[in-house]
Amino acid sequence: MNAAQDQWWRTAVIYQIYPRSFADASGDGIGDLRGITQRLDDLAALGVDAIWLSPFYVSPQKDAGYDVADFTDVDPLFGTLDDFDAMVARAHDLGLRVIVDIVPNHSSDQHAWFQAALAAPEGSAERARYIFRDGRGEDGSEPPNNWHSVFGGPAWTRSTNADGSPGQWFLHLFDSTQPDFDWSNPEVLEEFDRVLRFWLDRGADGFRVDVAHGLIKADGLPDFAFDDDANSMGGTEGPQSPYFGLDGVHDIWRRWRSVVDEYDDRILAAEAWVLPLSKMAKWVRSDEMHQAFNFAYLETDWKAADLRDVIDESIEQFGAVGAPSTWVLSNHDVVRHASRLALTADNPQGHGIGPRSAGLPDTQLGLRRGRAASTLMLALPGSAYIYQGEELGLPEAIDIPDEARQDPTWFRTAGERYGRDGCRVPLPWTSQAPAFGFSPSGETWLPQPAQWAQLARDLQHGDPSSTLSLYEQALRLRREFGTATATLEWIDTVPDGVVAFRVGELSVYAVVDPGTSIPLPSGEVLLSSAPVTDTIPADTTVWLRG
Ligand code: GLC
Repeated sequence: MNAAQDQWWRTAVIYQIYPRSFADASGDGIGDLRGITQRLDDLAALGVDAIWLSPFYVSPQKDAGYDVADFTDVDPLFGTLDDFDAMVARAHDLGLRVIVDIVPNHSSDQHAWFQAALAAPEGSAERARYIFRDGRGEDGSEPPNNWHSVFGGPAWTRSTNADGSPGQWFLHLFDSTQPDFDWSNPEVLEEFDRVLRFWLDRGADGFRVDVAHGLIKADGLPDFAFDDDANSMGGTEGPQSPYFGLDGVHDIWRRWRSVVDEYDDRILAAEAWVLPLSKMAKWVRSDEMHQAFNFAYLETDWKAADLRDVIDESIEQFGAVGAPSTWVLSNHDVVRHASRLALTADNPQGHGIGPRSAGLPDTQLGLRRGRAASTLMLALPGSAYIYQGEELGLPEAIDIPDEARQDPTWFRTAGERYGRDGCRVPLPWTSQAPAFGFSPSGETWLPQPAQWAQLARDLQHGDPSSTLSLYEQALRLRREFGTATATLEWIDTVPDGVVAFRVGELSVYAVVDPGTSIPLPSGEVLLSSAPVTDTIPADTTVWLRG
């Protein structure tokens, strides 16, 4: 094997499975590991190289599993460790690598460590694994500082002493059931080395590292003058936040890299919402992680000039540290791109959309743009992430009844923000089956829109005009033409409003801006996100040979 083959992650297409919503074998309405194993053949047929699974660990599910009570066991909702082993074995048989999520910023409040911390006195070793502080004000009834939770409301909750009196406060950048660890404590570092090795020993090919920009907090936990993005995941270029993007995290990633490097071929991928990209690139220096999610790309508007800029900057900044760029349009935290790209009002990350939101998208325009955007993304050199359901062209589920919503964001903002449920609705596999084939019982933990009968995988399979076929062809051609390792060269003979480039033998034309169109260039049309005649209309991407 040569070095390039070895570094499979440089070109990989990685498919994100959100286990709750992928496939339910048990019939309880929540997806599970056996369901995933049963459907792996479909993913191999799609042509992806790897899967990444959002958390399936023991958890009270207050944040859909990102609140972990035991980092080295499977929650009974999702199955058992044996089910995990069987899933990995089947994936490896099919040539698919398996990346698992790791959540180091916080645990669930039900984790044994946090329970011990609550039971232990102030200043104890048990409390020192988390961030407990005295409150402000005479009776300590004010939070220790002014930080906000990403999900809304304060980032502190007051604990109760064993005798029932009000106690110290603990920090939680997310839900109050997700206390933050203190990463300056060597015990925390050692525990996570153990967690990494546990999954590596079981055959995991790597980790997607949750909130990889948040582990280190500024000394003294100073107040922060928030800007308008106060509750966001970071990723703005304003003043340095005291909890997102601090340089101290890099020592942790160097340590983790040395653990992962004890094994062959395993990777670390950062969920780090930091800007500018020159800063994000620090997460993927050669002795840190292998990849970082390119959220700058995800957040770019559907505008040709902006897309060209972010593509250039990504290739330059990641290239400067010897890392491949990644490309991503959707995940379980953002409005699905087949809806997002047609929104007509601002919608900050994590706020979500629902029936009362402003600027709701036109469904047909959204799907058309979604297909064009995916066809553009999959031609770019580097590694790409696909979020389950985007290969079916799924839109965001907007009409979820208020009483069915489950995202902590919805509760912590008293319904002011819908949150992320709309991108987490269980997948439609079979048009004419209970729960569209998601669950044999017909149960689903979030309701599926009736219109999804038309988007079910069985109807799309074998239909050359379907979104599923578009993805299958794109992945096949990407592999055949080696575009992921090619050098991108801009084609400058196109009008504003068009993104055009060559990658190896392919020429790619994405006609983006409204009202723009171009004559179909010469060459053989290999792939097209929408029908083309002798012109390529707006919201269309075409791959040509020649
Ligand atoms: C990450 C996850 C998100 C979760 C949060 C807290 O952003 O992607 O789903 O809510 O971390 O763990």
